[in-house]
Amino acid sequence: MLNIVLFGPPGSGKGTHSAKLVEKYNLVHFSTGDILRSEIAAQTELGMLAKSVMDKGELVSDKLVIDMMRNKISQNKDKNGLVFDGFPRTTEQAAALDKLLAENNLSVSAMIMLDVEREELVTRLQKRSETSGRADDADIRIINNRIDVYNRQTLPIAEYYKKQNKFQNVNGMGSIDDIFDRIVKVIENL
Ligand code: AP5
Repeated sequence: MLNIVLFGPPGSGKGTHSAKLVEKYNLVHFSTGDILRSEIAAQTELGMLAKSVMDKGELVSDKLVIDMMRNKISQNKDKNGLVFDGFPRTTEQAAALDKLLAENNLSVSAMIMLDVEREELVTRLQKRSETSGRADDADIRIINNRIDVYNRQTLPIAEYYKKQNKFQNVNGMGSIDDIFDRIVKVIENL
């Protein structure tokens, strides 16, 4: 199975390229952000717990996110592969993902980091705010906080994957097609 962790700051293109990977390799896409937003839309207890945290651009608790992923992985262990978008986001989540995969005789094939300059991230997210309806896109202070939270709490996971020789850096600047070609090249060389 091809199990890819697509990694990068807010606005780096994780969602965009996950969709393309799903199409090309017939993978199952897990976006913790999308799952949480659908819980909010359905006004579930989980959604209500997550909403105020997400609106501020902070991270939802590890326990809540890990519990949410547990069933999803076991339900899809027989597919072609999985693409994780926005998960893991802390070292604790990365360790939990390894454990959840191992329980199903699976493992991460590669962690692909989309490397994008901060100014470009802000430009993309401000543009998306015109149509996304996402509270965390609507305010430049929240966008900046999301990027700061990523640098502080999420970027250190790169070391976790480097130690496992699974870290792959991809230049995430330029056209979507060019970036996707770079991602495919990495995958074809695994
Ligand atoms: P999440 O939904 O994961 O949001 P994010 O990480 O902030 O990422 P985005 O969806 O904003 O960006 P992306 O990298 O997917 O880029 P996209 O392809 O959309 O998380 C939201 C919140 O949920 C978190 O802040 C947290 O509170 C909570 N959460 C989620 N997971 C969690 C977890 N594991 N633990 C704890 N909390 C969690 O592209 C962005 C825009 O740019 C789009 O408009 C796109 O069309 C455009 N674009 C993409 N590529 C290009 C390009 N090459 N050129 C020009 N435009 C481009």
